[in-house]
Amino acid sequence: MVQTPAARFDIKDIELAPQGRQRISWAAREMPVLALIRERFAREQPLKGYRLLACAHITTETANLALTLQAGGADAVLCASNPLSTQDDVAAALVEFGIPVFAIKGEDAATYERHIRAVIEHRPQIVIDDGADVVTMLHQEYQEQLPQIIGGTEETTTGLIRERAMEADGTLQYPIIAVNDADTKHFFDNRYGTGQSTMDGIIRATNILIAGKIVVVAGYGWCGKGIAMRAAGLGAQVIVTEVDPIRALEAAMDGYRVMPMAQAAPLGDIFITATGDIKVIDEHHLTAMRDGAIMANSGHFDSEINMRALEGLAHEGRRTLRQFVEEFQIAPDKRLIVIGEGRLVNLAAAEGHPASVMDMSFANQALAAEHLALHAGELEKRVYPMPEEIDREIARLKLHAMRIEIDTLTEEQRRYLTSWQH
Ligand code: ADE
Repeated sequence: MVQTPAARFDIKDIELAPQGRQRISWAAREMPVLALIRERFAREQPLKGYRLLACAHITTETANLALTLQAGGADAVLCASNPLSTQDDVAAALVEFGIPVFAIKGEDAATYERHIRAVIEHRPQIVIDDGADVVTMLHQEYQEQLPQIIGGTEETTTGLIRERAMEADGTLQYPIIAVNDADTKHFFDNRYGTGQSTMDGIIRATNILIAGKIVVVAGYGWCGKGIAMRAAGLGAQVIVTEVDPIRALEAAMDGYRVMPMAQAAPLGDIFITATGDIKVIDEHHLTAMRDGAIMANSGHFDSEINMRALEGLAHEGRRTLRQFVEEFQIAPDKRLIVIGEGRLVNLAAAEGHPASVMDMSFANQALAAEHLALHAGELEKRVYPMPEEIDREIARLKLHAMRIEIDTLTEEQRRYLTSWQH
């Protein structure tokens, strides 16, 4: 039997590379911490000889991470962590830089899966994941590859939920570093990154005025906090829905109205989900919404708005109004609008988090990959926190890049803080 050779990459159009290169350089200007790591990696080659797979949003920021890993000696390949988030020009530029990419913006579910399989064929030893799609596929269908993997990293809250469940039931077969949980990741990326880029996606897609609107934010984790803060900053009245009593209390004391989604549904002009759960906006919420209500999702998966229920309700038809804006007519006098098919709105309709926050997230990723290489064979099959000294060093470097100085403890203050007799 003649075997078809595996594709070396699969992208939309290599001719887009010059534009991608230009945009990658623009993002690099806001990523000084990653640049320092890249310079050191080029000298020290900590990833030399390692095959590395990164399943990530293929953006200008991810490109800078990939180039850092390549500078460190890694033999890296990339696939998308979401079918709608790929920037095709960036994918083309990366291929020209010698990094194979398997990702096309708007790819269907079968192509998305084929691309994940293609990068798994690279037989990775280090796996950088964003949402745990690769981790789960490796454990379910490629068990023969698990022994070669020295470890992985996870970028998202959603991915960690799945990976911690694998650890709890004894399934997890390699160590994973919880990059998401680093302070220099979630305090900044999840809050300020999601906050700004979510509003950016909604505004780019619709060009509507936010001031004076009622914005319902589902979920008050770090992402929800950032979205609520930025929506309020643009002049919206914000309602928060939550299931966690402490977060609900926090939202109330931060000045937002808090109520169940069933009460918020008829009130909201714009609904934004960021819970990590399923059916946060379900059929009975949809039918209660007012004509013209707009919905967007900022959680990792497209499961938060019940799109199947919405499609089922749309007896009166559906139509595309603008790029990434679709209207579902559920009654003669009721049209509901969804941005970006209910997928991550900040990456589908905008460019994801700005480079300045991804600088810290991806500094964590690069240093976590180095940590795995340095400790290959020593770590257990567990989900590990990001080493605290790395986290603090990233904060110090970021402050330095921002030309911000801070105080240091005097010897007397240090003694006071470490004693109990005073
Ligand atoms: N996740 C959110 N924003 C991102 C970006 N700009 N690049 C990569 N991953 C992201």
